[in-house]
Amino acid sequence: MKLLSVTLALLVASASAFAPAPVGRTAVTTSNMAASEELYIDDERRFLMNLIVVGSTAVTVGAFGIPYVAFFFPPGAGGGGGGVNAKDALGNDLAAKEYLASKPAGDRSLAQGLKGDATYLIVKDDKTLESYGLNAVCTHLGCVVPWSAAANKFQCPCHGSQYAPTGAVVRGPAPLPLALAHCDVDDSGMIIFSTWTEDDFRTGGKGWWN
Ligand code: FES
Repeated sequence: MKLLSVTLALLVASASAFAPAPVGRTAVTTSNMAASEELYIDDERRFLMNLIVVGSTAVTVGAFGIPYVAFFFPPGAGGGGGGVNAKDALGNDLAAKEYLASKPAGDRSLAQGLKGDATYLIVKDDKTLESYGLNAVCTHLGCVVPWSAAANKFQCPCHGSQYAPTGAVVRGPAPLPLALAHCDVDDSGMIIFSTWTEDDFRTGGKGWWN
């Protein structure tokens, strides 16, 4: 009988050794509640975090996306289709009256034209401006082509291309005539360049620059 009592006491003691301690369970439960409270994000915090994410995304897209997209759109001709002022080398707008008073008949001098391209203004024999300007960029490989009054031609120093006074090719390797731009005088007497969208009168076909 005594042996049976001792055996039962041992069995109870060993079983209780494997049971979780009550104090431990309370600690774990309390710890879990604290953790879940820490993980819980209320609406205000969520809104703030969303705002930060959206804001930083917008800044990133703005910084990299806009210049990337703009790359595929060349600068506009300006003036909303009304053209741009012809400018001298210092960036001053050119007034027709003063300009013509300073140039001889037949003169071809450079001005800043559409998109800032160097463009020849042409003074006619009657001392008025020609109705078109000539883009000075050689159609071979892009050198700026000087006008030679002595030769009465534009002569490219890079590979020898030559252009007539109208900008038509008279000797290669330039494959195409100099690009045209309209040249007009506005109501206030300023010289205006605008895009030439009509046919090229030198070739009879569509302008290659359109
Ligand atoms: S760039 Fe003018 S001829 Fe080559």
